[in-house]
Amino acid sequence: MDWIEKERKFILQTYTRQPVVIERSEGCYVYDTEGRRYLDLVAGIATVSIGHSNKYLVERVREQLEKLIHISNLYYTIPQIELAEKLSQITGMDKFFFCNSGTEAVEAALKFARKATGKKKFVSFTGDFHGRTMGALSVTYKEKFRKPFMPLVEPVEFAEFNNIEELDRKVDEETAAVILELVQGEAGVYPADAEFVKAILELREKYGFLLIVDEVQTGFGRTGKWFAKDHYAVKPDIMTMAKAMGSGMPIGCCAVSEEVAEKIEAGDHGSTFGGNPVACIASMATIEFIERRALVENSARVGKYFVRLLKEHFENVRGMGLMIGFEVDDAISFVKKCLKRGLLVNNTSERSIRLVPPLIITEKEVTQALEVMVS
Ligand SMILES: Cc1ncc(COP(=O)(O)O)c(C=O)c1O
Repeated sequence: MDWIEKERKFILQTYTRQPVVIERSEGCYVYDTEGRRYLDLVAGIATVSIGHSNKYLVERVREQLEKLIHISNLYYTIPQIELAEKLSQITGMDKFFFCNSGTEAVEAALKFARKATGKKKFVSFTGDFHGRTMGALSVTYKEKFRKPFMPLVEPVEFAEFNNIEELDRKVDEETAAVILELVQGEAGVYPADAEFVKAILELREKYGFLLIVDEVQTGFGRTGKWFAKDHYAVKPDIMTMAKAMGSGMPIGCCAVSEEVAEKIEAGDHGSTFGGNPVACIASMATIEFIERRALVENSARVGKYFVRLLKEHFENVRGMGLMIGFEVDDAISFVKKCLKRGLLVNNTSERSIRLVPPLIITEKEVTQALEVMVS
């Protein structure tokens, strides 16, 4: 069967895919239809954090599938309530709205920010990526993604990332919210400067806008702490999560402070599938597994080791925990070379490689990956 030919025939061509059909997986490895094994440093784009086909997650999901798959938000369900309580412990946020993806979490964040402040303007940053739906796209920087779909949500202004003076010029009393990736992911793994984040907090104090921290890519241990905000001691007014939240099962969440929650009423937002019991159980199992195996600590330790190895061979190596970027001469050929040698890596531009492996990865596997990259 030529799956790739069939895909071209029936699937809308919105993606640039690598020429392999992945059929099964285990831990840090995936297997294609020819039975070839690949060490996976992409993890479903920073998603499969506790490893592929994780047995604990599979068992918890299987139990829930047999009990209750879906009922909607017309009724109460226990997994959703328990997950919200758990998230309040690990995020420090007060109330939670569940959805199914990162872009939906950002849509919710923008709506809640407008409702809570009664203001309209958003400020985002050069390089920021927040998703593909019309609202999230409006605060996403890359013009190639935005231009064909204009007019989008307005007013939105982009300030230069890590430039305090420019941000100061762009925010004012009319600003509903500033939305920020503390470590820019799609742009190629660029952390915000501590001074810059401090300035944002001071400007928040001065103008009264809300701070939306987008932790869709950085959340759940990816950066070596539970959330990137923990590196900066930031308390967001609104925070978005998705990707690793269910370690591969689709779930997203928009978390808010008590002050924002007080302004939100029934009917302001909703989702048929949001907070689905199976997705919530998958997220709970993910968090429990991360805690039990100390994977946040593993992310910090192995990430540091990986960066040290990479610095011996590549330019501009940067990152936090197991969210790492570096430069090569030709990133597209580099990805293809690695693929041929049984290693999945991903490029974020023509020169930039991003590594976001499962958080269970070991120093031994990282050493093997490096050997493939430099051979
Ligand atoms: C920071 C950030 N926000 C939002 C999104 C959108 O998430 P999704 O693809 O689940 O809609 C992404 C996806 O890469 C992201 O990295």
